[in-house]
Amino acid sequence: MTLTKSLSWTLRLAATLPFFYWLVGLFLEWHGVEPLVKINTQSGYVVLILLSINLLIGAVHALKWLDIKYYRFLYLERRWLGITCGFYAILHFVTYLAKESFLPKGWEQILTKNYLTAGSVAAFILLILMITSNDFSMRLLKKNWKKLHRLVYLAGFVMLFHIFQIEKANLVLLLLLITPVALIELIRIVKNLVALRNKN
Ligand code: HEM
Repeated sequence: MTLTKSLSWTLRLAATLPFFYWLVGLFLEWHGVEPLVKINTQSGYVVLILLSINLLIGAVHALKWLDIKYYRFLYLERRWLGITCGFYAILHFVTYLAKESFLPKGWEQILTKNYLTAGSVAAFILLILMITSNDFSMRLLKKNWKKLHRLVYLAGFVMLFHIFQIEKANLVLLLLLITPVALIELIRIVKNLVALRNKN
């Protein structure tokens, strides 16, 4: 097996580890008295990390910061990263509903609490991107596939709002969590604006 293939498989395995940790932990009672609260918070962080990595790879590629030979294996793993990210976003959503005992109040709060509405929009976008991350959808959607998958940047923005609302009282943690994605999004906006100006 080549080094690239080994690295790809290591990345894939690493991305599945949190799920198995939570699953086994539920049976072996590793997650304390409120396992759902713990899994909900941790899965939020996992979604954030996977989405940040995916956005970063996209930015490095779009801005030609590095020769692709240094990160080709990561670039090729973007689809897998997107699928895993969508999966954890669903898990994060389901654990929220489970925390609310799947009662109607849990659904109502999604419409009445801004941070939950924003999180749900982001998770919905990630779900759409996950479902369409396959060769069949690429063939079906043709040029529109790329346009659709640009929604990942919108998901990034709404996700920033979700985390901002939750962590606004804890400035240090908030900055740690949102700075990488916020910077990537800012750079993309500037790049698109410059490209638009050069076009006109
Ligand atoms: C792309 C989608 C999402 C991302 C990246 C995300 C990310 C996060 C992160 C990182 C946290 C931990 C914040 C902290 O406690 O320091 C969190 C907490 C939380 N998220 Fe999400 N989230 C997303 C979608 C959702 C959705 C769809 C829901 C439910 C409708 C939701 C409900 C919650 C709740 C209830 C918490 C715990 C809040 C608290 O501790 O008070 N999230 N999320």
